[in-house]
Amino acid sequence: MLNQYQNLMDLFLRHLESYQINLIGKKPKELYEPEDYILSLGGKRLRPLLALIACDLFDKDPNLSLHSALSVELFHNFSLIHDDILDAAPIRRNMPTVHKKWNNNIAILSGDVMLVKSFQSLENYGFKEYKKLSKIFNETAIEVCEGQQMDMNFETYDNVSVEDYIQMITLKTAVLLGCSLKMGGVNAYTSEENLNNIYEFGKHLGIAFQLLDDKLDTFSENLEKFGKQIGGDILASKKTFLLIKALELSDDKQKKELINYLELQPIEADKKIKGVLNIYNQLNIKKLCEQEADKHTNIAIDFLDKVEANSSKKDQLKLFALELLKRQV
Ligand code: IPE
Ligand code: IPE
Ligand code: MG
Ligand code: MG
Ligand code: MG
Repeated sequence: MLNQYQNLMDLFLRHLESYQINLIGKKPKELYEPEDYILSLGGKRLRPLLALIACDLFDKDPNLSLHSALSVELFHNFSLIHDDILDAAPIRRNMPTVHKKWNNNIAILSGDVMLVKSFQSLENYGFKEYKKLSKIFNETAIEVCEGQQMDMNFETYDNVSVEDYIQMITLKTAVLLGCSLKMGGVNAYTSEENLNNIYEFGKHLGIAFQLLDDKLDTFSENLEKFGKQIGGDILASKKTFLLIKALELSDDKQKKELINYLELQPIEADKKIKGVLNIYNQLNIKKLCEQEADKHTNIAIDFLDKVEANSSKKDQLKLFALELLKRQV
């Protein structure tokens, strides 16, 4: 998926490595070891890559975006540590989650320090740039918290619409992709219009990205690559696109069955996952989810078309967006 940007990825990974060296042996170890642990587990590094891609797209040296890139990756990893507590998730990137490997208190505090360090990385920029980057970043960070709270609230709501869902995933996931690109654009000193269009491109790409994350949570065929517990969203009764559509399209009998499965206790996890999955299959929900993701990728590409930049680099980014739609991880 990322091969075409391997040089940018390598650039970021070297920067991350030099950051992580400073974590080794740092005390109190309970605070810093989990940070080193989660960062070492890898992941796609999508957000920092987007920051570098945007800077490069406007023909500026991607090195200029390294501090922004670290900032968004630290923030992302902080949000995952806390998200795994909220979602009671046991596995992340194929390994025990921080709160499982250590405990909730350690997961909360090590997440907190990463959040602060994500802001701190921006101190490396001059004042004017710092101010601009902080404004985008802080707004985004608040939105992510809003989205996460909505995600939690929706678990117990009966009538969440597709529109509510799109708003929720826009906040919890999509704005951070938009923000990453926009920060790269700021580092390249591009125009306000370009900043807005690249942000909207990232936001819609992020909506597609989360739709596919929901799909894979239930339908992933490559357990090891996906690296998370399959069926976790069903167990937590998450109002994913899949569940909302299934509730919308089911007939009375199917709906009753679906609700019965959703009410099963964690002890009957297998029965719950299989029961819900069976109804998703009857209603062809997987396909609908893919179509919805397609729709948002196309909107994203319309925004990218409006960006004024090197056209071959734009084409490369377009391809990358389409590749992301095929994600299995
Ligand atoms: C996981 O993000 C959280 C979502 C917003 C779906 P990624 O799928 O980008 O996670 P990593 O960083 O690659 O592990
Ligand atoms: C996560 O959404 C969004 C954030 C971490 C802010 P999910 O809860 O779907 O992410 P995964 O599936 O645990 O990676
Ligand atoms: Mg989660
Ligand atoms: Mg979550
Ligand atoms: Mg998920």
